[in-house]
Amino acid sequence: SENPVSLYSLTEEERMLKDVVKKFADEVVAPKVIEMDENEKMDPEIIKGLFEQGLMGIETDPDHGGAGASFTSAILVIEELAKIDASVSVCCDVHNTLVNTVFRKYASQALKDKYLPQLSEGKLGSFCLSEPASGSDAFALKTTAKKSEDGSYYTLSGSKMWITNSAEAEVFLVFATLDPSKGYKGISCFVVEKDMGVEIAKKEKKLGIRASSTCTLNFDEVKVPAENLLGEEGLGYKYAIEILNEGRVGIAAQMVGIAQGAFDKAVPPTFERKQFGQPVGHFQGMQMQFAKIATEIEAARLLTYNAARLKEQGHNFTKQAAMAKWYSSVVAEKAASQAIEWAGGLGFTREVGIEKYLRDSKIGAIYEGTSNIQLITIGKLLTKEYS
Ligand code: CAA
Ligand code: FAD
Repeated sequence: SENPVSLYSLTEEERMLKDVVKKFADEVVAPKVIEMDENEKMDPEIIKGLFEQGLMGIETDPDHGGAGASFTSAILVIEELAKIDASVSVCCDVHNTLVNTVFRKYASQALKDKYLPQLSEGKLGSFCLSEPASGSDAFALKTTAKKSEDGSYYTLSGSKMWITNSAEAEVFLVFATLDPSKGYKGISCFVVEKDMGVEIAKKEKKLGIRASSTCTLNFDEVKVPAENLLGEEGLGYKYAIEILNEGRVGIAAQMVGIAQGAFDKAVPPTFERKQFGQPVGHFQGMQMQFAKIATEIEAARLLTYNAARLKEQGHNFTKQAAMAKWYSSVVAEKAASQAIEWAGGLGFTREVGIEKYLRDSKIGAIYEGTSNIQLITIGKLLTKEYS
């Protein structure tokens, strides 16, 4: 579907993975997309399928059951899934680029040995940072952790809000403060298993990504063994934001996938549909619109792949990640909106699934840092560079 020029930098391995995901998305996910959206529920067989296809431990090393593949591979999987369904895409994205990555980068060997294989093979993960009173101001979180006197466990109390995958997840990475007087330097990260006492409360009814579960979680004095502190006390904020820099490239890829998916679905029928005696896709007015959107999708994809490659090669990529996420979410919304118009009245119905891309695109400007937060991040870095 896309111009092969944008694939020039992919390795043979990455192209092969892309093909595997495309096949899974077309054959297994596509037939269920509209039903899952209407029911606001992910088919458990699809989550199972993601694990069976080896897509839930992409960067995890093979010793821990993963594929040991590149960050770009993880990004390609997200893009490819989002072309067909953004909910399935974010399920995989949160699991790989947030949850697995926190373990891979910051956990002790013992925690890696215990949890990474489970996370590769069948247990779904959630990343729990946001709270009712702290979204953009994430480091103002109020969930507390108290260490027991004998030091053998922590007690977690508080609420998390908007947590993706939480209806299905079994492993929760929870950010909580051990010492509110230290501000964000009191934040630590804990591995909490569902049966330690996580209460899954209200499930949100949403505009888009409706098959992806988003719930409030309550922690009512949940006891977590001391060994489930991930990394060091007080460094949770650093883990959270450094992982989110990577996650933002993932969301950028999701938005590129949405834009391309909408384009691929809406454009071919314009060469069939006739008005004024000719296929509507042949009108120059339509072709100008196709050309502009195709160019913007290409630009968004290149920003995204570039951020991924910079990360992979060990360069600082914070600014490029924020740029990719901000720009790709703008393009996704625009492409999806145009796709509806290209399909005419049909595009506006819920049966053909084009309008869903527009609904799904809107989340790109909100999660993993709103568009304003991305622009603030870019602005801060530009100020450092230029002042
Ligand atoms: N990369 C690395 N470090 C960063 C950083 C970045 N992008 N932004 C801030 N930091 C560091 C700073 O260096 C500083 O650390 P040190 O003191 O060690 O130097 C610390 O964070 C605080 O910096 P600021 O005072 O500048 O930051 P702030 O308190 O004003 O805001 C922030 C920081 C909370 C990270 C905010 O910029 C932000 O990104 N908010 C959005 C939160 C977010 O993305 N939430 C996503 C939840 S998960 C999710 O949404 C998943 C999903 O939907 C699928
Ligand atoms: P607010 O922070 O209250 O923002 C409201 C408005 O104010 C926005 O337009 C924002 O851009 C603007 N604003 C805020 N601060 C500034 C500023 N300094 N300058 C200019 N404008 C500003 N969180 C998780 O931890 N884990 C998840 O898995 C997860 N999944 C999510 C899934 C969905 C479907 C949704 C909707 C959210 C999810 N989130 C998750 C939470 C998400 O990260 C937050 O919603 C997001 O960070 C914004 O926070 P907020 O909703 O509190 O909005």
